[in-house]
Amino acid sequence: MKCVKCEKKAIINIRYRNLRLCRDHFIEYFEKTVKETIRKFKMFSKKDRILVAVSGGKDSLALWNVLNDLGYRASGLYIDLGIGSYSRVSREKVKKFSKESGLELIIRDIKAEYGKSLEEIKARRKTCSTCGIIKRHEMNVVAHEHDFDVIATGHNLDDESTVLLSNILRWQIDFLSRQHPVLEPWHEKLKKKVKPLCLLTEKETKTYVILKNIDHVEEECPYSVDASTLFMKSVMNSIEERFKGTKYYFYTQFLKNIDIFKNNKKWKEDLKECKLCGFPTNKDYCSFCRILR
Ligand code: AMP
Ligand code: FES
Ligand code: ZN
Ligand code: ZN
Repeated sequence: MKCVKCEKKAIINIRYRNLRLCRDHFIEYFEKTVKETIRKFKMFSKKDRILVAVSGGKDSLALWNVLNDLGYRASGLYIDLGIGSYSRVSREKVKKFSKESGLELIIRDIKAEYGKSLEEIKARRKTCSTCGIIKRHEMNVVAHEHDFDVIATGHNLDDESTVLLSNILRWQIDFLSRQHPVLEPWHEKLKKKVKPLCLLTEKETKTYVILKNIDHVEEECPYSVDASTLFMKSVMNSIEERFKGTKYYFYTQFLKNIDIFKNNKKWKEDLKECKLCGFPTNKDYCSFCRILR
């Protein structure tokens, strides 16, 4: 199998784009796709200070690396939830990457900050959902305190098409109206949130970290094992297997038509500020402060 751009041996076959690429042309394609995604969705410019939320996994480390290679001002944020060896290993991988590339890293240790780790917070919801609330809250707090311009996460095309499928199956119009690669701030304490890898698949980010020799955590979070998201991902993969390009078209065509779901102001109604932390919520206390108590 030869590269479609040169004589070298192809190392990846990107079936949905009909592209077989060698190492150098794949890196070029990966960087170009990220650059175009940033430009197309007006995510940020070279002047902006970007806070990259890094979990230690392949996607967020790939994102941090590619943004730095493209000349953007990207600092990392690692949120330590205290999930046993999983958190310890992830934290080490992120620290190692930051040291080797000389990039600023901010670590938020939940236990040190609030006196309880994720496992000690006895919320009535599932661990994953509690974890999501904590992560979103901490990203907002750090970005606000350090005055970053934008928060970037490593969500890829597999993540976005899977969430889209789940949201559509339940017709969650509020979620659908906000499932864009860019979420504009809707309160003075919030920052813009962006997903620059949303048009690249998991297979592509995996190939990128291998080629770039980026050491990352392979282990999955112990709580994600029975998550319904994993099931939805496998459904999406089966469809893709049969009809190549489904993930890409499903997601990009949705983005073209996202306005259908807009004008739904429900979630903005009754907006207040949390009596404890001051971040926006529609109750007296935000979900983060409620689970912490
Ligand atoms: P997940 O919700 O685990 O699928 O992760 C989605 C994105 O959230 C990742 O690509 C990261 O950008 C970010 N993220 C996940 N976990 C952490 C963490 N512990 N610290 C900082 N960012 C994280
Ligand atoms: Fe949060 Fe798994 S990373 S529950
Ligand atoms: Zn080539
Ligand atoms: Zn709060």
